[in-house]
Amino acid sequence: MMENKINHLWSTPVLRKPFPQHGRLKSALFDFTQTYMEDHKQSRESAENVGLFESEYRLFDHHAGACPALGELAGFLATGIGEIASAANEPHWHNDGIELADMDVVLRESWFINYRDSGFVLPHTHSGSWSCVYYLQMNPPRSPNDGATYFLSPINRISAETDFGNSYVSNQTVISGAREGDALFFPAHILHGSYPHAGNSPRIVFSANAAIVRK
Ligand SMILES: [Fe+2]
Repeated sequence: MMENKINHLWSTPVLRKPFPQHGRLKSALFDFTQTYMEDHKQSRESAENVGLFESEYRLFDHHAGACPALGELAGFLATGIGEIASAANEPHWHNDGIELADMDVVLRESWFINYRDSGFVLPHTHSGSWSCVYYLQMNPPRSPNDGATYFLSPINRISAETDFGNSYVSNQTVISGAREGDALFFPAHILHGSYPHAGNSPRIVFSANAAIVRK
């Protein structure tokens, strides 16, 4: 551990980034999801999913060849994961002589979710090292937290009501609004879920899990 320097142990980096091609690709990605759901009536079963359709888990691998928009989205998500992973691992990678240019960001799982009225996802974690969610279709929300993503603190309950030394760890839940066109990048191990989506208007997100491996 470094001397005379604040060492941040077990930090939880989260990155929000707009997808620059959202405006150009939204309709192609939306059409892809609609066709997919017509062809695959059966949603993937999962105990944490309520009131929603979830696709298969190798979506980019199986469909990006036929849907170039999906390939562009996959490229953007892999770039964002590379950015957050290299920032989070900087001291470790520096010590080990690792640079992002030497690594592959492998999107091992990828899928989309179409929320139905009152659909939500219970708290869960992902596999791999980094995960992301991209908000493709969000109609005007009925409440500020409609469909929002929330993250749960990895630290046990700590009060900052009278002890302000705990201010930096006192949030048990952090809510991140579901803004259309944005993507969130976060550690796969952090507990998170989504607030219920109200109404029958489509609410569609794409997600992926990534591993960072040597080329
Ligand atoms: Fe998730």
